[in-house]
Amino acid sequence: MSGHPWRLRPLPAEVPVALLQEEAGKLAEQIGVAAAAMDAADAAFAMGVLYTGMMPDGFRTVHGAYYTPPALCERLLDLATDAGVDWRSARVLDPACGGGAFLSPVARRMADSRSDDTAAAVLKNIEGRLRGFELDPFAGWMSSVCLDVSLADLCREAGMRLRPVVRVCDSLEQIPGGKGFDLVVGNPPYGRVKLSPELREEFDRSLFGHANLYGVFTDLALRFARHGGIVAYVTPTSFLAGEYFKALRGLLGRDAPPAGLDFVTERRGVFADVLQETLLAVYRRGGDPGEAGVRFISPRPDGTIQTSSAGSFHLPEPPDRPWIVPRTEAHGALVGRVNGLPYRLADYGYTVSTGPLVWNRHKKSLREKPGKGRYPLIWAEAVRSNGTFEFRAKERNHKPYFEPGAKEGWVVTDFPCVLLQRTTAREQCRRLIAAELPASFVEAHGAVVVENHLNMIKPLEGGPRVAPAALAALLNSETVDQLFRCINGSVAVSAYELQALPLPSPECMKEIERLVTARAETETLESAVERLYGGGAE
Ligand SMILES: C[S@@+](CC[C@H](N)C(=O)[O-])C[C@H]1O[C@@H](n2cnc3c(N)ncnc32)[C@H](O)[C@@H]1O
Repeated sequence: MSGHPWRLRPLPAEVPVALLQEEAGKLAEQIGVAAAAMDAADAAFAMGVLYTGMMPDGFRTVHGAYYTPPALCERLLDLATDAGVDWRSARVLDPACGGGAFLSPVARRMADSRSDDTAAAVLKNIEGRLRGFELDPFAGWMSSVCLDVSLADLCREAGMRLRPVVRVCDSLEQIPGGKGFDLVVGNPPYGRVKLSPELREEFDRSLFGHANLYGVFTDLALRFARHGGIVAYVTPTSFLAGEYFKALRGLLGRDAPPAGLDFVTERRGVFADVLQETLLAVYRRGGDPGEAGVRFISPRPDGTIQTSSAGSFHLPEPPDRPWIVPRTEAHGALVGRVNGLPYRLADYGYTVSTGPLVWNRHKKSLREKPGKGRYPLIWAEAVRSNGTFEFRAKERNHKPYFEPGAKEGWVVTDFPCVLLQRTTAREQCRRLIAAELPASFVEAHGAVVVENHLNMIKPLEGGPRVAPAALAALLNSETVDQLFRCINGSVAVSAYELQALPLPSPECMKEIERLVTARAETETLESAVERLYGGGAE
């Protein structure tokens, strides 16, 4: 067969074919010629980006079709190798294989590990242990074509092609059977999804509230991996802390603890059109929940990957709590030190809720001037970045007073609390921006109305064990801010994550109360907090 160009595999019958107009046809041919001159993996990725970029928005979103660049695929496969995957014998599944970003390099590793066998034997062997599932028939066909290209040397030598290893199907409907796979690998689709009642019941063990496709695919991977097998996935980072993922964290902690995490620190140019924070994770089914290594990776322009270590982390107990994981190299030591801290906001006698007033649903009750039956309206801008409270309403559309109507009494707050901004970006110098809402202010006005861009940290029944001013100072400290960054990578500062923050004991907080009362310098307070978290000079 050598010397003769092979024809592309025929498209499956379910893919509709339309004739291209002349110009488009020429362009397609030029693209084909250019791709043929490229490295096979780079060409496959470029074609995939082209294909997914031309999908109608709705189709792309529903399918979560964002293909993985070759350097990240290779990195994930290296992590799987480090975790013990033996390419000579491993049975491997990608349950959302797209255009074959993982199938092709996996097939290559399988082939290279069997270089002593005949080409035909290698192909037969790969056919027996490599599988891909894909919903989109065209993507499934691209996977098969890319496998043909990457195994072309063997196919030519053996005079045969690989028999199909990709099944066009809905992975969530597939029932695992047999011994299970040694490696389930891939970049599953992501995005909120409304599951059918049957699927919701099927995946109940890993669901809490809204389902996200990548969470369901992680549960699916655990079902297809054998005991002792590896799951190696590219996913968003939101599962590390979000409340909606707590059942999934619990499942992973019990059934397949992480062996290592690589955060992709450079998002630009990595995934076309993906803005979410991404990580590469390796889990071992039935593994011991020990220490997991954490690294940061960023692809270089030449396609290689730069890595740096950020230390390690342990799963919390119970593992459904947010996982506190270093997000920069500087976090490694802090994360190691907070492991033994059992105290949370509830131990200080506080709970967290969001400010009740969604202002644009109550526009008619906003007022410019004070008056009878009117209360100060507390916007996020009242919590200044230096940790002080200032009654103000200077930003656009903000008015300083609120006059609740007959059915709006529930928006009124008549007790002091700690206020904390709900939206802050990681680029800001502080993620946690808190201030005490002074009791004197509440008393002077009888009550206030807190707007929804603020969290309210409110005393529980029985009263707080730590003074609000000391709590605000703690939350405003650099140490706690860095700790929060190890929990949360998004812009929202959620009540759930605040309640998960490890804190010093309420008794130790007496020192902070003293310093706050004595109006100590910021530096003195910072060092005191650092010491309470086990850092700084003795
Ligand atoms: C994020 S892309 C990744 C594709 C490929 N693994 C890669 O890394 O380039 C996710 C893929 O999952 C496919 N997909 C979405 N829902 C699926 C389902 N229920 N069953 C099988 N495949 C699905 C999409 O069509 C898409 O190709």
